[in-house]
Amino acid sequence: MQWRLDSWRDLPILQQPVYEDKSRLESVEKRLSALPPLVFAGEAESLKAELAKVCSGEAFLLQGGDCAESFNNFSANNIRDMFKVLLQMAVVLTFAGGKPIVKVGRVAGQFAKPRSSDVEKQGEKTLPSYRGDIINGFEFTQSARTPDPNRMIDAYYQSASTLNLLRAFARGGMADLHQVHKWNLGFLKKQEIGEKYEEIATKLTQALEFMQACGVTSENTPTLKQTTFYTSHEALLLPYEQAMTRIDSLSGEWYDCSAHMLWIGERTRGLDDAHVHFLSGVKNPIGVKVGPNATADDVKNLAAALNPQNEAGRLNVIIRMGAEKIGDKLPNILKELKKEGLNIVYSIDPMHGNTFQASNGYKTRAFDKILSEVRSFFEIHYSEGTHPGGIHLEMTGQDVTECTGGAFGLSEAELTSRYETQCDPRLNADQALELAFLVADFLNKKTKQ
Ligand code: PEP
Ligand code: CO
Repeated sequence: MQWRLDSWRDLPILQQPVYEDKSRLESVEKRLSALPPLVFAGEAESLKAELAKVCSGEAFLLQGGDCAESFNNFSANNIRDMFKVLLQMAVVLTFAGGKPIVKVGRVAGQFAKPRSSDVEKQGEKTLPSYRGDIINGFEFTQSARTPDPNRMIDAYYQSASTLNLLRAFARGGMADLHQVHKWNLGFLKKQEIGEKYEEIATKLTQALEFMQACGVTSENTPTLKQTTFYTSHEALLLPYEQAMTRIDSLSGEWYDCSAHMLWIGERTRGLDDAHVHFLSGVKNPIGVKVGPNATADDVKNLAAALNPQNEAGRLNVIIRMGAEKIGDKLPNILKELKKEGLNIVYSIDPMHGNTFQASNGYKTRAFDKILSEVRSFFEIHYSEGTHPGGIHLEMTGQDVTECTGGAFGLSEAELTSRYETQCDPRLNADQALELAFLVADFLNKKTKQ
């Protein structure tokens, strides 16, 4: 089917809200279309070039952030702390792998959520499910749960101000490698992780001192004091994505300017459905989540639809099969796809295939399972001779208690103390950094081979 900005509207579509007032929806779409883009096409192309390096094994992708951003938890401190943890993780991974780390946040637009059911029941009452703050409210009331198109405007402005702060952090001094000791968040509970990090930070500081003595300083080498941080989210709510999609005046191509990278979720990746069709027409880097039921042909067909030119850095296949299933399913996909010579960045989302309900009812994930899926992902790639390109995490810079386990052994009973997510359980800052050290070991293994 010929692509137009709105041709997705003629196709089957899943996981969309029902807006009662169509004319209000239209006026919001019109307003959004007139607002400035959040990112520039050239930046999406820079990310594509960096991802092309991931594709050939010369770089590693670190993608992470909230399951869903929220209007309530929006604060400078939350953004800063998430940014700092990602920088810490990037330093740990760079040290181990000796490769550049491509940093992509699930941030500044990660608001819309696919749900397993259209409705939620509490007692006798049934209401529409919460679909993320860009669509409806979390509170279990009829008025909060009714989809409101105006929320798209609020999400746009929150994304703009988040992005503004992230750009300031990336360029304005926060990301200066000389600050590496100051990225610690102060609540590293397990001394071991803190000490391990300090060890790397000290080595890095020594290296910087040596370079300074040789005349390499932040002043003459800006890459030492600046970083590039990209944004991404699931392109689920297509009226919003369409409104943010613009023709780049330099190349004449369409870009979805709501984020640098967009991905398609496991539940909406139907080949002939609206989401795949819509994203096939924009030039941004595109991710697609792939769960345990996907076959090698499914992935081949998605690659043909989303990356017909086989452009390196365009397509990121995000594996999320679960610790138990990845060993059965991934090897064949990699084997078959390798035969086709397709350029694909593979990354691992070890979160979404490992969710379970704790005995006290909390939705959680166990650190060991997360780690086990990541380990399998690396081992399978190494044995198939393909590149384990990156990790995709739900995490926060805050000291929450949402995933069990980790170095300080968070128990199911402890989940109750700071369980703050409105959606899926995230790794807290300590768990995220700990995972980075463990991933570093896997990367290191390959480097030393
Ligand atoms: C997500 O990344 O938040 C998500 C819903 O993932 P998936 O599509 O893999 O279930
Ligand atoms: Co999630």
